[in-house]
Amino acid sequence: MLAPIVLVFAVVSPAAARYTADWTSLDARPLPSWYDQAKVGIFVHWGVFSVPGFGSEWFWWHWQGQQPPDQKCVSYMSQNYPPGFSYPEFAPQFHAQFFNPEDWADIFKASGAKYVVLTAKHHEGFTNWGSPHSWNWNSVDTGPHRDLVGDLGEAVRNRSLHYGLYNSLYEWFHPLYLKDKKNGFKTQEFVMNKLLPELYNMVVRYRPEVIWSDGDWEAPDTYWNSTDFLAWLYNDSPVKDTVVTNDRWGAGCACKHGGYYNCEDKYTPGQLPQHKWEKCTSVDTYSWGYRRNMKMSELMDLPSIIEDLVHTVALGGNYLLNVGPTPDGMIPAVFEERLRSVGAWLEINGEAIYASKPWRIQTENTTVPVWYTSKGATVYAIVTAKPPKPTVQLLGPKTSAATKVTLLGNPQPLSWSPLTPSAGLIVLLPERPSSPGRAWTLKLDGVQ
Ligand SMILES: *[C@@H]1O[C@H](CO)[C@@H](O)[C@H](O)[C@H]1NC(C)=O
Ligand SMILES: *[C@@H]1O[C@H](CO)[C@@H](O)[C@H](O)[C@H]1NC(C)=O
Ligand SMILES: *[C@@H]1O[C@H](CO)[C@@H](O)[C@H](O)[C@H]1NC(C)=O
Repeated sequence: MLAPIVLVFAVVSPAAARYTADWTSLDARPLPSWYDQAKVGIFVHWGVFSVPGFGSEWFWWHWQGQQPPDQKCVSYMSQNYPPGFSYPEFAPQFHAQFFNPEDWADIFKASGAKYVVLTAKHHEGFTNWGSPHSWNWNSVDTGPHRDLVGDLGEAVRNRSLHYGLYNSLYEWFHPLYLKDKKNGFKTQEFVMNKLLPELYNMVVRYRPEVIWSDGDWEAPDTYWNSTDFLAWLYNDSPVKDTVVTNDRWGAGCACKHGGYYNCEDKYTPGQLPQHKWEKCTSVDTYSWGYRRNMKMSELMDLPSIIEDLVHTVALGGNYLLNVGPTPDGMIPAVFEERLRSVGAWLEINGEAIYASKPWRIQTENTTVPVWYTSKGATVYAIVTAKPPKPTVQLLGPKTSAATKVTLLGNPQPLSWSPLTPSAGLIVLLPERPSSPGRAWTLKLDGVQ
């Protein structure tokens, strides 16, 4: 273990301030700046759960964990698999034979995202890399026989995207975890012999710049040794200067401790939060993992993705949009189409998104919903529905004689007139605004 050695040196190193293994110290660490500037990331849920591809990535739990089991999962198995078929038997069918990390990275790059987060290990415990602590339950020993985490990381970084890894702290059926759980988490056999050695190894090997922690909620952070791990991560790990983490480090930590806050899945605050946060959500509204029976009507369409992204960024959040690849290693074409379309929208409107800051006012809704962002003295008003008339009314901005309004993607400045002498303006839109996704950005210079 690295941590004890590190503690010895902590005493003698006079250089930079070091973080101590408590929340007061760890929570005070400034978030590395790349993260807030990035705004948009892609989340990828891929694992053995992609093979049954039924219900969600929680299939194993719904089938054989929870009491009573989900009858839909039970009959799916009895109708499609031989009697006695066990979940680990899905692993050899995780072929990933079409997995081309370069193709994936091209799609992620084209989406306009600046970071990618892959499930290195979900709650099923299967690692998408050759973890020495997950014998025969990893993607090198079985299934793809390939280092999925490493191969994707290389392609993603080659396109100047940041690379992050999702890691589940708990594993539904790990015998040591179940033993600790039975002991009321007063023992730490799972944490000391499985979780931590694997997590330290993963960080050193792959140098992830996001650690998207999950599966923390059954036990306190003291059981997971979260603060010790984070102190090492921030003081001494190979990614100490650039890594960001979320807030899932033990029961009660979400929305309270860690790096940025995820709070709950698909968290949507009503107003501007005081702390950097991220909304994770999924194109498939029913699942994070691939579903063989997904239907078009169950997916987010492009306008709803753009509206969600804009809403999130206007409230200071990052937007992490999930896709679930197939066990063959393909990103379903419908997901690819969504991601490329988001990228086409960002190509025109990204100026209002990347490295932006929330404005004095975040939203208003007179005739159409409007979301504001800002960059320096420039204010952006993003309109996320087609106005009934070719005009938009903005109530918040205070105009002057120097005020200039342009539509991103449109070369000509737009005509506008004041709404009242003190604030507000009416902008005349061109006939056919040039942006996909039913959302347009007005760039306002010379307003307050
Ligand atoms: C990406 O890979 C190509 C070809 O192997 C290489 O020439 C290029 O320098 C790499 N770019 C980055 C940013 O790593
Ligand atoms: C776990 O936490 C305990 C208590 O803080 C500490 O003594 C121990 O060194 C930690 N172990 C690891 C491997 O982090
Ligand atoms: C915005 O206002 C319109 C018209 O009053 C209304 O139909 C719509 O639901 C509002 N949208 C939001 C997001 O509040």
